[in-house]
Amino acid sequence: MGWENALKSSRLKPGKKKMVTVKGKLVMLARVGDEVMATEALCRHMRWPLAYGGKIKDGCIRCPLHQTTHRLDDGGLVEWSPFPLLPAYGKLVGKFSRPKDLKIYPARDLDGQIQVHIESQD
Ligand code: FES
Repeated sequence: MGWENALKSSRLKPGKKKMVTVKGKLVMLARVGDEVMATEALCRHMRWPLAYGGKIKDGCIRCPLHQTTHRLDDGGLVEWSPFPLLPAYGKLVGKFSRPKDLKIYPARDLDGQIQVHIESQD
């Protein structure tokens, strides 16, 4: 596999996110400034769809449920399920699954299409 059309460019406005299916994979697309980004669509903690309420700030995506945060450049984990702090419910539900990085896909906006690069082993 290689570059795949994921969404018409005009359907992703600046500052917005969408969840799409590309070659059978759920992918979150985001447009931040001049850049388009693509990650796996579901939070690594408890599989919340990041396009629904996820916040992009300081080069990271933060899940709205328990605020697990990953970097958008390499998918590295920044913080695992810290919310809510009191009672320590976030830390408790954080133990339901092991901390993991987020899959990041190369993405580009070309000829009116947002394209995502899917490797055959993804
Ligand atoms: S489901 Fe995303 S942080 Fe818990």
